[in-house]
Amino acid sequence: MAYDGQSNAAICMEGGKCLDGTVLIQGSKNAALPVLAASVLIPDTCVFKNVPYITDIDCMKNLLKSTGAVLEERKETHMLRIHSENIREYRLPARYVSAMRSSVVLMGALLGRLGEALVDYPGGCVIGERPIDLHLFGLEKLGAQIWTDKNRIHAYADELKGALIKFPFPSVGATQNTILAAVTARGTTVIQNAAREPEVTALCDFLNKAGADIEIEHDFIATGRIVIHGVDISRLHGVEYTVIPDRIVAGTYMFAVLCAGGNITLENAPAAQLRSVCALIRKMGADVVLDDENDRILVSTDTKRKIRNVPFVETGVYPEFPTDLQSPLLASACVSKGTLILKERIFSSRFKVVEELVRMGADITALDHERVQVRGVAKLAGRTVIAQELRGGAALVIAGLAADGITTVTDTRYIKRGYQDIVGDLERLGARISYVD
Ligand code: UD1
Repeated sequence: MAYDGQSNAAICMEGGKCLDGTVLIQGSKNAALPVLAASVLIPDTCVFKNVPYITDIDCMKNLLKSTGAVLEERKETHMLRIHSENIREYRLPARYVSAMRSSVVLMGALLGRLGEALVDYPGGCVIGERPIDLHLFGLEKLGAQIWTDKNRIHAYADELKGALIKFPFPSVGATQNTILAAVTARGTTVIQNAAREPEVTALCDFLNKAGADIEIEHDFIATGRIVIHGVDISRLHGVEYTVIPDRIVAGTYMFAVLCAGGNITLENAPAAQLRSVCALIRKMGADVVLDDENDRILVSTDTKRKIRNVPFVETGVYPEFPTDLQSPLLASACVSKGTLILKERIFSSRFKVVEELVRMGADITALDHERVQVRGVAKLAGRTVIAQELRGGAALVIAGLAADGITTVTDTRYIKRGYQDIVGDLERLGARISYVD
């Protein structure tokens, strides 16, 4: 059955086959969402290329339409044209906001454009506490007045004013929201301890192309400092922008090779953004070649040499090991030699997938609420397992590649939030995998 973004069809696979071949990496979900949100700030037409065909983007498109934006789409070429000349609605429909947490970045963009935003508390994957206090902190520092009740947030500003904003934690979404509101604020905004993730830099690149005045220093990873000189909204203009490749999808396929064995080439892969991941994969015994110039990563395992666990990995903010690849790493650790202790430092309940992996025969013990111990086993056993969130769902799919017999992953709507065609990609790499009704 072909990919259908709306369906919740299960993914079925038979493990035991090595991966071999080339896969083209899709545009980044986490980079596309904020730049699409940024389009409402620009009273003109923007053209986005390499937009991934995933359900979170569908949700963002509906949110943009609700503000008055007019969208033209060419799915076959991943092109999206957004006309934002007539943005007039500051109230976002609850059904889309509650479906996707990153809808909250529209607050900063709408404040910048209309001086007002009214949103419900955002939703998203069930990976733990996800407050938005830092988003509101950044917007308030810029002069927005904010009223909240248990369901809704109302932000208003006669005029946004540049400010010095020091985040106690470098939240990705709060940094992006603050940048969006600061672009047209009067005066200069300095953000200290900003998130350093490539998706923040990508948003700044897009906004600068569109006429914003944002400085990111060359040693940004060390300083975490962003300086935004406010410009009049009339200075902002339409641009053509290509969404950067998805480092998390690329990383997921790298861990798939550790699960299944094989030899794959990732094309359009952001090699420079995956250094910590590549270093770990090498330590685990795979060969990795990073071809920065051609945006290509080659990953291979020597079938004679068993992939082995490193003793300890912890997630962290960029450039440390990304929390979004914690579950794919966990899947591969289940079938690697030796013991791994894995610590999750970003989200409080990102171990929901453990229960399902254990049902497949994995040996995983919870040490405390943020650490698990994984003892590698020779093989997992095919079972019917349930995807409960995006990255955990993808981890179950790659675990199925290392299982004896048939694995069926249900509730795949979570996976489709971020993976354009995980089944097609793995099938092209030689996996026996398909959607089933
Ligand atoms: C983004 C990514 C997500 C990734 C995460 C960390 C998108 C759409 N999602 O999520 O895939 O896993 O970055 O790289 O880009 N926090 C607060 N208060 C806030 C905001 C965040 O306490 O106001 C906490 C969160 O609960 C969490 C931590 O900060 O524990 C990290 O969150 P944040 O960096 O904001 O992640 P997101 O932007 O939600």
